[in-house]
Amino acid sequence: MRLDGQRWLISAGPTFEDIDPVRFIGNRSSGKMGFAIAAEAARRGAHVVLVAGPVHLPTPEGVERVNVRSAAQMHAAVMAALPADVYVGAAAVADFSLPAATRKLKKAKGQTHLTLTLERTPDILADVAAHPARPRQVIGFAAESEDLAAYARDKLTRKGADLICANLIGQARYGFESDDNALLLVWADGQAELAPASKTALASTLLDFLQKNS
Ligand code: PMT
Repeated sequence: MRLDGQRWLISAGPTFEDIDPVRFIGNRSSGKMGFAIAAEAARRGAHVVLVAGPVHLPTPEGVERVNVRSAAQMHAAVMAALPADVYVGAAAVADFSLPAATRKLKKAKGQTHLTLTLERTPDILADVAAHPARPRQVIGFAAESEDLAAYARDKLTRKGADLICANLIGQARYGFESDDNALLLVWADGQAELAPASKTALASTLLDFLQKNS
């Protein structure tokens, strides 16, 4: 099915929260899952804006890419790209950040610990779902190491999304960085499993599902 005339907004990759000019706190994510969704939506004719954290992936054909580094930058770029018909939050956004020191933190002689005070980052998915220009479909992801369905359902209601695509992490073949994945789709009154496949194939199956249920 074609998506001509639709505007899709997709976030992908990790965010890096700088500690100082040398060090950062980051999440594991290659961007492959989100880039595959962006590529598939563009292939079907949508205008795709892809807000990408720091990843080493080429821009899919026909996709408008906005590069960001931190959660705050990703939040600003996503909000600036609204309105959209569909938002897909596949990024692994850091939940906490800190004001970056302008100079490299030096170790004191004999220092054995370093204490950092972190503060919550804005929740991009929740803010998109609550936005006056809310996309018709707001899709989030959940990366969990256990209780996939329960945590996904909690995120669905807490963040106001229409669908959560949950994936197990901590397994070599799926989740972060791998070429393959498996998804559990969770929505208000149902759930469905998408069997293990390449992220490219899963993106296509996910888009079929979204188009059927839009
Ligand atoms: O990039 P790959 O290597 O291909 O790996 C893909 C993936 C595992 C990163 C991807 O499939 C995935 O699961 N992405 C979400 C990872 C995650 O960090 O989930 P979460 O459970 O912390 O967050 C839940 C949802 O809230 C996500 O849609 C996330 O984008 C969003 N979120 C989280 C925190 C925050 N401050 N803002 C957000 O929008």
